[in-house]
Amino acid sequence: MSDARLDEFKFSHDEENAIDVNHRVAVAIIGTGWIAEAHIEEYLKMPDVDVVALADLVPGKAAAFAKKYGVENARIYQSDVELLEAEKNLDAVSICTYNCQHAACAIHALERGINVMLEKPFTVTLEEALEVMKAEKKSGKLLTIGFQPRMGENMKMIKKIVESGELGKIYYLQAGGGRRKGIPTPFGTTFIEKETGGIGAVGDIGSYSLDMLLNAVGYPKPLTVTGYTSSYFGTNPDYYKGHPEYASLFGVDDFAAAFVRLEGDIILDFRISWAMHMDTAGDALILGTKGGLRIPSTECWNGEFDKPLTVYKEVAGEQISYEIPLIQDSQDVSLFYKKLRSFIDAVKNGGKAPVPSSQIIYNQAIIDGICRSAKEGHEVEIEIPEI
Ligand SMILES: NC(=O)c1ccc[n+]([C@@H]2O[C@H](COP(=O)([O-])OP(=O)(O)OC[C@H]3O[C@@H](n4cnc5c(N)ncnc54)[C@H](O)[C@@H]3O)[C@@H](O)[C@H]2O)c1
Repeated sequence: MSDARLDEFKFSHDEENAIDVNHRVAVAIIGTGWIAEAHIEEYLKMPDVDVVALADLVPGKAAAFAKKYGVENARIYQSDVELLEAEKNLDAVSICTYNCQHAACAIHALERGINVMLEKPFTVTLEEALEVMKAEKKSGKLLTIGFQPRMGENMKMIKKIVESGELGKIYYLQAGGGRRKGIPTPFGTTFIEKETGGIGAVGDIGSYSLDMLLNAVGYPKPLTVTGYTSSYFGTNPDYYKGHPEYASLFGVDDFAAAFVRLEGDIILDFRISWAMHMDTAGDALILGTKGGLRIPSTECWNGEFDKPLTVYKEVAGEQISYEIPLIQDSQDVSLFYKKLRSFIDAVKNGGKAPVPSSQIIYNQAIIDGICRSAKEGHEVEIEIPEI
């Protein structure tokens, strides 16, 4: 058979994902700090996206950002409010501000009828997240939360294994990962100050751990939480090489642990760390009545994993285990591209939010429950009113 004939059987990604460049999407970015760089780099690869406006509270920052990325035609503003009031033809906005500004910016954008890509974590508190969801419902616009690890083929495999029934009924989840020395201060102190970060490791990388496990098992509703948080490393001047002053600015958690009861008789044993005297808080585990799954931890936990999954089963009375080989993610596009592309496609085609608030509200409720329980010193109930 000729090569041309065989080629007819090849799956064509180009055909499948043909982008209609005549249907253009006008995008703004609010907050032009570190993660905004990943947003613009990926938007610039999309032939149907125009980055038309940028805003940052720091004078000159958005303009310098525009220059660095060659989008000098983008209109520059000094706050989300200025941008959202002035721009009349925006289709979408990437909200890349520090956590404490997530809710205000998202609500304002939705009220202006603009589709929102909101960086993770959803918000700082459960109350804020509920307010964002109210604005989302009222506006009828799209809101998606920026959890790109979900877009990876290996992460999808965890969900596929659970959904296949291979593990039986799931009853126990253990969050793993955590960092030995990884308080995120290389680009300043917005992650560690209460007024900007609002929450620390529990929201930053803890939200990734929660998304990995909860998404795999269908996002069951959290019922109660016993939580603990501490900040022994972040508040120690000796921790920071060359920046002892960061210790007095540190106003969030650098470690958290919790026991969370979930609907469906599932228990979640959670731990996360920006800093601790241990290499890892353990692998992530999913235990079911027919099998167990081990998700290996990584050195600097960022919500992804880079070693094979292992399944544990009993076959013919023998205890066996086997590895699921790592799947090579596409070399052509990053997970970040996939996260933004899926959002833009949903905006264009009237599709659903790739990472919907209806799921991530449970992620936020657990984070909120951990902080509340830690403060009150006892178990707390989680109540999530219908929006
Ligand atoms: N998905 C990921 O992989 C990933 C990675 C890193 C950070 N993040 C998230 O992205 C967010 C930002 O992180 P970062 O490292 O870029 O922080 P950053 O401090 O570098 O940047 C945030 C920027 O937002 C600006 N800002 C804040 N409020 C504003 C407002 N109302 N209007 C205009 N500008 C405003 C600040 O001036 C700052 O320049 C955080 O919520 C973080 O959790 C996600």
